Amino acid sequence: MNKKTILITGVAGFIGSNLTTTLLSKYDDATIIGIDNMNEYYDVELKRHRLSLLHEKASESGCVFEFREQDIGEAEEMHRLFQHFRPNIVVNLAAQAGVRYSIDHPEEYIRSNIVGFFHIMEACRRYEVEHLVFASSSSVYGGNTKYPFSEEDPVDQPVSLYAASKKSDELLAYSYAKLYGIPMTGLRFFTVYGPAGRPDMAYYKFAEILKNGGKIQIYNYGNCKRDFTYVDDVVDGILAVMKKPPKGVEPPYRIYNIGNSSPENLMDFVQILSEELQRCGVLPKDFDMKEHQELVPMQPGDVPVTFADTTRLEKDFGFAPKTPLRQGLRKFAEWYADFDRTKTI
Ligand SMILES: NC(=O)c1ccc[n+]([C@@H]2O[C@H](COP(=O)([O-])OP(=O)(O)OC[C@H]3O[C@@H](n4cnc5c(N)ncnc54)[C@H](O)[C@@H]3O)[C@@H](O)[C@H]2O)c1
Repeated sequence: MNKKTILITGVAGFIGSNLTTTLLSKYDDATIIGIDNMNEYYDVELKRHRLSLLHEKASESGCVFEFREQDIGEAEEMHRLFQHFRPNIVVNLAAQAGVRYSIDHPEEYIRSNIVGFFHIMEACRRYEVEHLVFASSSSVYGGNTKYPFSEEDPVDQPVSLYAASKKSDELLAYSYAKLYGIPMTGLRFFTVYGPAGRPDMAYYKFAEILKNGGKIQIYNYGNCKRDFTYVDDVVDGILAVMKKPPKGVEPPYRIYNIGNSSPENLMDFVQILSEELQRCGVLPKDFDMKEHQELVPMQPGDVPVTFADTTRLEKDFGFAPKTPLRQGLRKFAEWYADFDRTKTI
C-alpha cells in the first residue's frame, strides 16, 4: 500500500485508530487521511487520546498522516475532501454504532450510516477510487438460528435499526458496484474488543461498574453467546482485504465475516473478565463475581447468539481471527488498569 493515498473515516474510533496505527507502523510511504466528526456518543476525550497516539506514531513513520474533523453526512465537504486528496483506497468505519442507542436516536443511524455512506459511495464513483472497504456488522444476521452465520445466509430480518442501517449499506454498495464497477468489500465484524475500546460496549461497561463496586446486569439470564473478536485480528483482516479488491467477479463486490468463530457464553466471559481485572489489581484478590451480577431478561434489539463462519475469509485471504478470549481480555485489563491509574486522558 506504499505510495497509495488511503482515506479512513471514523479514524478516532476504536477500530479506525487501531487500523491507522498498524498502517503507520507497517508502511513507510503511504498518505493516510483520517476523518472523524468527534461526536459525543461516548467520551470524546478517549477519541482525542487515540488521535494523540496516532500523531505520535505518525511522527516516527515515513507515512504522511493528516486528520480532519469532518462529518460524512455533509455532501459538499466530502466532495471537496475527495477532490483534494484523490484517495486510492477508502475504508469507511465512521458510523453511529450501538444497538440500544438506536431506539432513542434513530435519526443518527439514518444520517451517518445511510446518508453518510451514500456520500462516500458517490465520491468514490466521481473520483474513481480503486477499492472501498466498509464496515458492516454481525447484527445483520438478526435472530437467525442457523449457526455458524455464513455470508450466504438470508439477512432480511434485522431486529434493530442499527442492523437495518448496516444491511442497507450492503445493498447500496452492491448496487454501486454493479452500476459503476466500483470494487467494494463489506466486512461483518463480530463484537470487537481490546485496549482503548468502546466505553459503550459490555466488557468496558462491566469493568467500570465492577471497579466501582456495583452490580452488572447480564441479559437473557446469562443465556447469551458472543463471538468476541480481538481488535488486532480485525485490523489484520481489514489490511488483508484492503490490498485485494474483488477481481474477476461481477459485480466487483464481496462480503466477509470477520469473527473469532468461537462464541463464548456470557457468564464465562464475565468470569474471565473479572479474573483478569483481579490479576491487574483493578479488583481485589477476594472479589466474588457472584455478588456483583444480576440476571435480567433480554433487551429489545439484542440477539441471543452471534457465531461467525469465517470459511470465506480463510479461503480468500488465508487468515481468520484466532486470539483466545483470555489473552485478549488480559490485554484489555492491563490497558484499563494502567489507563485508570495514570489518567492519561
Ligand atoms: N466494535 C464492534 O464490535 C463493531 C461490530 C460490528 C460493526 N462495527 C462497525 O465498525 C465500525 C467502527 O466501529 P468502532 O467500534 O470503531 O466504533 P467507534 O464508535 O469507536 O468509531 C466510529 C467513529 O466514527 C465517528 N463518526 C460517527 N459518525 C460520523 C460521521 N457522521 N462522520 C464522521 N465520523 C463519524 C465517531 O466519532 C467514531 O469516532 C462502525 O461502522 C461500526 O458500526 C463495530
